[in-house]
Amino acid sequence: MNSEQQHIIDQVAHDVHERMSGDSSHDWWHIFRVWNMAKRLCEIEKADGFVVELGALLHDIADWKFHDGDETVGPKVAREILESHGVVSDVIDHVCEIIATISFKGAGVATPMRTLEGKIVQDADRLDAIGAIGIARTFAYGGDKDRAMYNPDRPHALHQNKDDYFRDDGATINHFYEKLLLLKDRMNTNAAKELAEQRHQFMETYLQEFFSEWEGKK
Ligand code: NI
Repeated sequence: MNSEQQHIIDQVAHDVHERMSGDSSHDWWHIFRVWNMAKRLCEIEKADGFVVELGALLHDIADWKFHDGDETVGPKVAREILESHGVVSDVIDHVCEIIATISFKGAGVATPMRTLEGKIVQDADRLDAIGAIGIARTFAYGGDKDRAMYNPDRPHALHQNKDDYFRDDGATINHFYEKLLLLKDRMNTNAAKELAEQRHQFMETYLQEFFSEWEGKK
């Protein structure tokens, strides 16, 4: 990356930091972790660092989960920010395509990324959804939405379309089965697959503990 691109990254990071206002599952620190992980994966995969970093920084700038399912807001806001820093249009198009494609939309809904840069940003975002951080974020998000931690009377579902997934307001533990435990098999790059395996094992252990404590067995 050249110094002009580095300067743009710094400015965009600053803009994103000022704008992020979600709960602690979707705040600046989520972006910061995804950005760091994306840089790490980018080095291994030899992708275009400028596109990867911009995609990571802007991937949740207007998350559809917080805009009643409207997926067009994120790319629009990202385009405005990138234009304001004079980013060339083919890079803007590429970054906006990544943002429009990135979200998990239910167990039965495929969201394939077209480019290596997109695959890296998606992997970095998905890694932040699993493991110790993933567990913490899931309960933070559920708390923000006033959801029960767990309700044995509300079984989990494997959603086959985005609207069902979006509307489901089941208990937070269900989210492990509806999304988190599925992510290790949705990683694009080999480096992310390896990291996901470790984080996945940690979640399995956590769930075993959770249920044995719930049932008073421990
Ligand atoms: Ni994200």
